[in-house]
Amino acid sequence: LEISSFVAALPKVELHVHIEGTLTPSLRWKLAHRNNVPLPYLTYEALLESYNVLYNHRKEVNGDNGAPTFLETYFAGTQVLCKEEDFYELGMEYLQKAKDMNVRYVEPFFDLQAYLPRGIPAATVLNGYMRAQREGAAKFGVQSNWIMCFIRDEPVEEGIAAYKAARPWAKMEGGKGLFHAVGLASNEYDRPPLLFETGYEMAQRDGLYVTMHCDVDQKDAADHVHEAIFSVCGGKGAQRIDHGLNAVDRPELIAGLKDRGIGLTLCPHAYHRRQKTEVLFPKIRKLWDEGVKFCINSDDPTYMHNIWVDGAMEKVYHYCEMDKSDMVKLARNSVEMSWADEKLKEELL
Ligand code: HPA
Ligand code: ZN
Repeated sequence: LEISSFVAALPKVELHVHIEGTLTPSLRWKLAHRNNVPLPYLTYEALLESYNVLYNHRKEVNGDNGAPTFLETYFAGTQVLCKEEDFYELGMEYLQKAKDMNVRYVEPFFDLQAYLPRGIPAATVLNGYMRAQREGAAKFGVQSNWIMCFIRDEPVEEGIAAYKAARPWAKMEGGKGLFHAVGLASNEYDRPPLLFETGYEMAQRDGLYVTMHCDVDQKDAADHVHEAIFSVCGGKGAQRIDHGLNAVDRPELIAGLKDRGIGLTLCPHAYHRRQKTEVLFPKIRKLWDEGVKFCINSDDPTYMHNIWVDGAMEKVYHYCEMDKSDMVKLARNSVEMSWADEKLKEELL
């Protein structure tokens, strides 16, 4: 699907993109050599090919067929990131790409816990991303506030420890201002959102926002959405939900999202890898027609066939039969759902 000039020119905001999911094969190749990290691919072509696989394999459900799962592939990529400069370059490459797509503000996720077990200090990761945040704003005019994800299939205490290590870089009184929210990512199998309640409470006491992944068609997906709407954060619910498409199957979830004003950050191409066009896009259209607030995002563009936020918006434009004013409304939704400060929001609207 070619990106129309209308979508290309539309000023955009992205709220659901994992910075590690923007690692290009070329940067990965370069960093592997610079840092002497062995790659399981002998040639650049083989590395490129590894990004092209349709990753929908779930070991918990289907057993181990020897093929890497999506998340294994994604975390394998993080192995080449070692030095502050590496994190900085990853951040800058993405922010440059954002500028090129007319994306003016972003809230990227990062996975600090991917690095700590390798002995990489939190400061290395966070200073690198923070330098990109500042230089990206100055050089490309793309503002960003970042989101620290808890890795939900690791022990809760490790997430809390990572959060404590990251705290000096949070956007709070006396903090350095890199990240302004916590999220919840990685494998959700038997790892419901409420497990991380202590982490959300800690972050909220620090004045940060809380969001969490409830990925599509996972085991217990709708129950996880239910928890995220009604149970977490002391019963107040999350402030956004990442994905959450399974709400479409349950009227009480649709009502809960609307009553509580919780928006979904949808990533249509991520679902399109597993669902047929005629199954998927009517669900997104139904949420739209029901008045559930959502915005459109890319998730892990380099690991998802290089479909970035513009491509994701084009899919919705085309397959949900949106008109131009709908698309403008979608772009406004992402501004309204963002946690940019009020002044910046006004500029973006
Ligand atoms: N799903 C869950 N967690 C993730 C993903 C994803 O696609 N990408 C990065 N963390
Ligand atoms: Zn995601």
